[in-house]
Amino acid sequence: KAYTEEELYRPNFHFTPKKAWMNDPNGMFYYNGYYHLYFQHYPDSTVWGPMHWGHAISTDMVTWTEKPIAIYPDEKGYIFSGSAVVDLQNTSGFGSLKNPPIVAMFTYHDPTKEKTKEPGIQSQGIAYSLDEGLTWKKYEKNPVVEFPSIKDFRDPKMTWDNIHKQWLMVLAAGDKTIFYSSKNLKDWTMLSDFGKNIGAHGGVWECPDFFPMMVEGSDEYKWVLLLSINPGGPNGGSATQYFVGDFDGKIFKLDESFSKDINGQKGLWIDYGRDNYAGVTWSNISETDGRKLFMGWMSNWDYAQKVPTQKWRSSMTVARELKLIKENNHYRLSSVPVRELQNYVANTIKKEALKITDKKTVLIDKSSIDLTRLDIQFTLRNLKKDIYTFSLCNSSDNNISFGINKKDKYFFIDRKKSGDLSFSDAFAKQISKAPFTEDFDKIDVRVIVDKTSIEVFYDNGKTVMTEIFFPEKPMETFSVTKEKFDFTIENLTINQLNF
Ligand code: FRU
Repeated sequence: KAYTEEELYRPNFHFTPKKAWMNDPNGMFYYNGYYHLYFQHYPDSTVWGPMHWGHAISTDMVTWTEKPIAIYPDEKGYIFSGSAVVDLQNTSGFGSLKNPPIVAMFTYHDPTKEKTKEPGIQSQGIAYSLDEGLTWKKYEKNPVVEFPSIKDFRDPKMTWDNIHKQWLMVLAAGDKTIFYSSKNLKDWTMLSDFGKNIGAHGGVWECPDFFPMMVEGSDEYKWVLLLSINPGGPNGGSATQYFVGDFDGKIFKLDESFSKDINGQKGLWIDYGRDNYAGVTWSNISETDGRKLFMGWMSNWDYAQKVPTQKWRSSMTVARELKLIKENNHYRLSSVPVRELQNYVANTIKKEALKITDKKTVLIDKSSIDLTRLDIQFTLRNLKKDIYTFSLCNSSDNNISFGINKKDKYFFIDRKKSGDLSFSDAFAKQISKAPFTEDFDKIDVRVIVDKTSIEVFYDNGKTVMTEIFFPEKPMETFSVTKEKFDFTIENLTINQLNF
């Protein structure tokens, strides 16, 4: 059977634009029952170009409805990444208390200054919506934030700082972030900067996010800074690191424990796979909900513009809930798929305790489940110094593999035989690795599988790896191999998700 592009590559449940190019998620906010997702979009091609903000809405962050393009480029420039907040108190005066305005801030990128790479090529503009994010009016006094001597000056992320009662904004400025505050979302005051000589600096800093979080199981809170970087990710190209510390309303100070590398690792990453970039969190999540909800762009600038889809390019990760955890005096972020995904479980296969004694064991095949829409959960026990490899395979000899190398202490994804690799040498040059932060002989694993992506969450999301792949036909079996030692898979739950 010859598969169409839609059948083979269009994800079953990860957001993709109907057509054309997409990169970063932008301006996510929740209001009146809807989660809004905007995205960097070039509607006239499947490669990057003059940026617009595309738009989609959802009641559960799983099923999305694409809406008309929300913000168009204009004479001041392309509309680069940014954020949106619900101005409930109408501090901006753009709306009223009865109909609070949604206020977005984005980066204007002025293409007329492109050739000369003039500083001042990027500045920040705002726009507001009085119809719940559908249509937007740009502020006539744009830009609202400039810094003419810095060239890379972009991706403003606003948040309401309920601790110091101020609007906060963080943006990326070359090799650091700059923090600003405001009373009305129009006039912004610079507070401080952060990041020079801290963390990974293999490339330009982009798409920051900054917010307070309660530490799980305590009444302590800390401030978290997400920071995307391209190139310079742990496995090459684009990736997102994070920092934890304290913020007095003006200055962000990295936590003592955090500034020491954990087990020799340089920086901590929200995802060690190659395909989770520029992710940020939703604003205006209600106090009763209280979750920190995150989504990333499921691609990598190393090859994003070459992946073998013709009609659209790129998808987003599943929406994830972030948690802040304190263990052995170290703070770490964990992320797991949002609980709403469970509402789509249509068919479950459970196996209680499987003792794995063969070199290769097939756990499930397509006769009992559709392997392009899965939420798999299990616990591994009695792990020894061995290599445990889980693989989704098809009869064209494609496989996407992930697992645990207990000899050399890392998690991995291997897509070297996952199907079409011809579009880019950078795509599957080597396997991707995530170092252990501590050793273990038992671990929980959760895997979200779509037609062209795999998202692996270890230890309740304390280590995550997300990667995409392009098989010649859909995957047909799910199996595990080990080299020497027997081990046990407990509570294996394979959920087929229907949409
Ligand atoms: C990150 C990024 C942002 C920028 C946008 C342009 O992927 O480079 O820094 O605003 O993409 O599309």
